[in-house]
Amino acid sequence: MSDSRKLRVGVIGCGVGQLHLQGFAEDPRADVVAIAGLDEDRCRELAKTFGIPRVYRDYQDLIADPDIEAVTVAVPNILHLPVALAALAAGKHVIVEKPLGRTVDESQQIIDAARRANRVLGVVFNRRGRHDVQLVKREVERGALGEVYHARAFWMRRAGIPGLGTWFTSKQMAGGGPLIDLGIHVLDMAMWMIGNPRPLRVSAATYAALGPKGRGQWIGGRFKVNPGEPYEVEDFATAMIRFEGGLTLQLDASWAAFTGHGDEFGVSLLGSEGGAEIHVHDYAETGTLKLYGELDGVPTVTTPQLQKRHGHGEILRQFTSSVLDGTPMSPSGEEGLERVRLIEAIYRSAEVGHEVIIDDEAPLASAQRAADTTG
Ligand SMILES: NC(=O)c1ccc[n+]([C@@H]2O[C@H](COP(=O)([O-])OP(=O)(O)OC[C@H]3O[C@@H](n4cnc5c(N)ncnc54)[C@H](O)[C@@H]3O)[C@@H](O)[C@H]2O)c1
Repeated sequence: MSDSRKLRVGVIGCGVGQLHLQGFAEDPRADVVAIAGLDEDRCRELAKTFGIPRVYRDYQDLIADPDIEAVTVAVPNILHLPVALAALAAGKHVIVEKPLGRTVDESQQIIDAARRANRVLGVVFNRRGRHDVQLVKREVERGALGEVYHARAFWMRRAGIPGLGTWFTSKQMAGGGPLIDLGIHVLDMAMWMIGNPRPLRVSAATYAALGPKGRGQWIGGRFKVNPGEPYEVEDFATAMIRFEGGLTLQLDASWAAFTGHGDEFGVSLLGSEGGAEIHVHDYAETGTLKLYGELDGVPTVTTPQLQKRHGHGEILRQFTSSVLDGTPMSPSGEEGLERVRLIEAIYRSAEVGHEVIIDDEAPLASAQRAADTTG
């Protein structure tokens, strides 16, 4: 159904929720009519800046507002499940900040609830809105890289632990550290660009060398520096994932490590006919992509002239269109679940200290053998 009316949205959470407000402000088909957050001063300030009529403290009150058709969930990870379930039960369409849930079980519950309620569910993987990511995806799709056989995804910070003692550094509230916070972004970039291949196995390790000593905090970031507070999650994670067909992906994520990376993320792809490298320093949006190829046997490097895009705006516009026009939502809830499935397997492998199986291809192979011998 296409429709010229505006979608009436409520934003829950006034931290990164601010980027949701900026995103919707650029969308002529959506109106944010309410926001909610426990930090009332901050929420009121945002409401004033963006001209939002209603401010609630608790998310339950926003969800009870019958004028609201869709909500964005931008609260600490521990609250994604209860907030999303409450919103879906009230008949709202929902888009949840990454990660969809802290675990596969939580993510699956949200997906099941969205199906039952027949409502749109999306996940905010805002980096998909980047021009460099979109160009590489298109190059992969048109076969310009040939067969992609290896990917490397990383997000490394030298000293970027957000808010020691806040929900970010609590295993229970966040579900993990930089892997589930930052690694999931670059994992999604890579997986989306290469067409969501089926992961089979992962071998991983996590470390906490600086965080527990109160080191590596984000000085000048939006959180207070609190050296005495507890630190319960990893500060660095590394993983090697094997996919169906032989493709491999190396993933590294750190909030704090003695490295030359200040705050940098990226994805590189190696293909049989070409390669692509996205390398982003300090959230730059241009000058971040190189494409590698060959011209008459001579190596070439192409550096496309990139446009600046508002990542949250791009994803939220897709959400609006999905609700109003019925177009499929991308990033979907299912993709959100698949990313969490990988994150959970990485933590499991790190805990047991060896490779773990995510999806076993053996049953398929043995079923095929059985079919061959009986047929
Ligand atoms: N996509 C991105 O680039 C990006 C960036 C930062 C954070 N995030 C994600 O967004 C989510 C929020 O992170 P953040 O950095 O904004 O955290 P934050 O701590 O800065 O803000 C959390 C907000 O949730 C509100 N809140 C908490 N409990 C609430 C309740 N019961 N009712 C209403 N509001 C409540 C708080 O008042 C606050 O406004 C997390 O899931 C995080 O992973 C995504």
